[in-house]
Amino acid sequence: MSETRRRVLKALSRGEFVTGAAIGRSLDISRTAVWKHLNQLEEWGVPIVKNRQGYRLHEDVELLSKAGILAAMAPHSRRMLKELLIVDRVDSTNTLVRNRLAETAGSGFVCLAEQQTQGRGRLGRSWVSPFGRNIYLSVGWEYEGGAAVLEGLSLAVGVAICDAIKGLGVVDVALKWPNDILLEGRKTGGVLLEMTGDPVGRCQVIVGIGINFAMPPDAEIDQPWADLSGAAGMTRNLLTGAVLSELMPLLRDFQSRGFRHYREAWERFNAHRGQRVRLTVGREVVEGILCGVSDNGAVVLQTEGRQRAYSGGEISLRGLE
Ligand code: BTN
Repeated sequence: MSETRRRVLKALSRGEFVTGAAIGRSLDISRTAVWKHLNQLEEWGVPIVKNRQGYRLHEDVELLSKAGILAAMAPHSRRMLKELLIVDRVDSTNTLVRNRLAETAGSGFVCLAEQQTQGRGRLGRSWVSPFGRNIYLSVGWEYEGGAAVLEGLSLAVGVAICDAIKGLGVVDVALKWPNDILLEGRKTGGVLLEMTGDPVGRCQVIVGIGINFAMPPDAEIDQPWADLSGAAGMTRNLLTGAVLSELMPLLRDFQSRGFRHYREAWERFNAHRGQRVRLTVGREVVEGILCGVSDNGAVVLQTEGRQRAYSGGEISLRGLE
């Protein structure tokens, strides 16, 4: 987004209506230029309210703010940040972080976006990412030891997100294996881990987190979903700060601790322990009772009297309840 368009956006986010002429004067651009920027923002789906007094952002939209996020973070986690970048619009925050890691390796680069045009979910799905409504967050971290040391990391990240949400007063938050965040049983967030570098040596992980905060009710999502809009006193900046506070120490310590350290905490959030589930792994479908997760993050199912651990696939309960 151009610097001027960003300034137009900021002018709209002050809570009061502002005329096109006033925006033009404050930015030293013509009314026609203001109008073009407003049109472009609307085309991108930025929720702008218009009336005779002028324009403003929809009152539900609180823009992400670096100061707000940093203020909501615990000081020791804040110190682990290498950089905190907020962009208005990007294809995917994971891609942005991946590109950045290719230029400058290292740990602690964080990127947030107001909107993603090609947000990615697990298993090749897309992630619905409208402007200013939700959290789209990616963090880059470097590890020694390749894929082997990363086993279970995405599950541990799920625990960090649940701890953050619970810490802000939401009780009914849970995890669906491997790392779906559920609110009252419906999907509210997810984690997409991507890796670059040496698969058996020094590698960089991109931890992508999406959390539905105030999803438009008509969003086209092909499964039951929920968001945090009902959570009293919560804001996107507070939630982002809380998530980063939990996440940064976890990412730092994971290499030495492994998933084993976080397994019990994961089980406390386990939404389906003891329930009959269906696991689809490629073309294989297994039904059984979900017993829990193993020390490396595999899901353990009991089928025909014996327990087996599966490290990939997707759980569903449809038709089994
Ligand atoms: C899932 O399918 O459950 C994982 C969703 C992960 C979405 C996040 S949003 C920020 C980051 N950028 C992406 O393109 N995807 C992840």
